[in-house]
Order: sequence, then structure tokens, then C-alpha cells
Amino acid sequence: MTDLLTMVDRTRLPEHIAIIMDGNGRWARERGQDRVYGHYEGVISVREIVDGCGEIGIKYLTLYAFSTENWNRPKAEVDALMELLVNTIRKEVDDLKKNNVRLHVIGDFASLPDVCQKEMSEAIELTAMNTGLNLILALSYSARQEILTATRKIAAMVQSGALAVDDVTEEVFHRCLNTSDFPDPELMIRTSGETRISNFLLFQLAYAELYFTPVHWPDFRKQNLYEALLDYQRRERRFGKTSEQIQTDSAPHV
Ligand code: FPP
Repeated sequence: MTDLLTMVDRTRLPEHIAIIMDGNGRWARERGQDRVYGHYEGVISVREIVDGCGEIGIKYLTLYAFSTENWNRPKAEVDALMELLVNTIRKEVDDLKKNNVRLHVIGDFASLPDVCQKEMSEAIELTAMNTGLNLILALSYSARQEILTATRKIAAMVQSGALAVDDVTEEVFHRCLNTSDFPDPELMIRTSGETRISNFLLFQLAYAELYFTPVHWPDFRKQNLYEALLDYQRRERRFGKTSEQIQTDSAPHV
């Protein structure tokens, strides 16, 4: 098999990739196993893709690990997922440190179980000096909630006179989001064949290229990541301009 990595143009990589890791449950069911088994196997893909992104030089990787809607799953599955998150971070934190990966969490942090908050906070602190890949875990995350919270912050600033209505710009809005420290993703990958955004980074994905693959998350490997990158590099990112404008633009485009 050709190693797709050799075909990826390292000068035209997205700076930020966001992934909806979908299909763990179906993957497990297809093997006659409990859904939770799929989540366990999904962790192997997480490790592989974090590794792959770090190696190739991606600066930001956001993984949708748990949505606010996921709280509605059967209690046993929610508990298993929380336990898996805690155990995975506990086990991996030394490697994250060694591999220069910096961990961040976005979402409703306070809604996570105490043990999960503690483990995440420690790992965030332990990796805070790292300068390689920024690994952003979306946990108990909802883009609509994030947008509402940002809107409330801005409304309060306007009400108190700290901000004029005309000064509410995209930049100001961006600064009030969970992702204020990160650039917007240029590429969003969703595994397992669903073609929805499912309340993920609704503001930040405005200009992202969307890549959907039928591969279930537990089967997603580095070669699948390279396939997505090659697909991304074949696309012309126009940001509302015409193709002719893009080709004659002196500025390099990605
Ligand atoms: C979606 O598959 C996956 C999740 C809701 C959880 C993702 C979590 C992991 C991969 C493990 C922990 C992650 C980290 C970062 C340590 P699904 O259950 O919705 O699958 P289905 O659509 O087939 O039911």
C-alpha cells in the first residue's frame, strides 16, 4: 500500500483540525459487543491520531469526546465514558508531556464529575509548558450553549457601558468563546458516515472544509488522516471569492 504521508504537501497543512469521532457504538455492535467496547477501542484511534497530527506538524486538534446531549445516554454508558476519560488521561499524561502535547478542555467543565475535573486540571497544568500539538478535548460541549454564553457576556458588557453596540465585532465575539485561544479549524472530519455537524463548533466552522468518511472511529488510523488531508489539499478555499480571483490573488492561498 502506498504510504499516503509521502503525498501530503507539508507546506499546505491546516493549522487546526476538528474531529467528530463517531461510530464507536455501531463498530462494537457489528462485532456482537457492548457499545462501551467501541469506546475503549476508540481510545486507540485517539492515540494514533494525536501521534499522527504531532508528527506531521498540525498545531491544533480538537476532538469531540462528549457532547451535552451525550448526558442523555444510558447511565452505564455515561459512567463508562467518564471512567474511560479519566483512566486514559491518567495513563497518557506522561506521554503527552514527553511528546510536547499541550492539553486543553472546552465545554461545561463544571458539569463533569469531580474526579474527571481533577484529572483534566492536573493534566492541563502538567502539559501547560508544551509547545507542540495543542490537543483540545470538547467535553460536555454544546456549540449553542457556547454561543449563548458568549452572547450573555457581551450583553452584560454592553449593559454596563464597557462595550458599545457598534464595537461588537466578530473578533470580540470570538474572544468570548471557549476557543478564544485557538484559530478556527480549517478542516472538520466526521467518521462513520453521518453528514451532520451535531452542535459542534458552529461559529468556528464557518469556513472549514468538511470531510465525511464511512470509516467508524475505532478503525480510523493515520492513513485515514492522510486521506482527509489529501482531500483537503485538493480543494480550493475561496472564502466567498470567485475561482478566477483566487488564482490571480498574489497572496498565497491554502
Ligand atoms: C461517538 O460514537 C463517540 C463518543 C460519544 C465518545 C468518544 C469517546 C472516545 C473515543 C473515548 C475517549 C476519548 C478520549 C479523548 C480519551 P457513538 O457512541 O455515538 O457511536 P454510534 O453513533 O455508532 O452509536
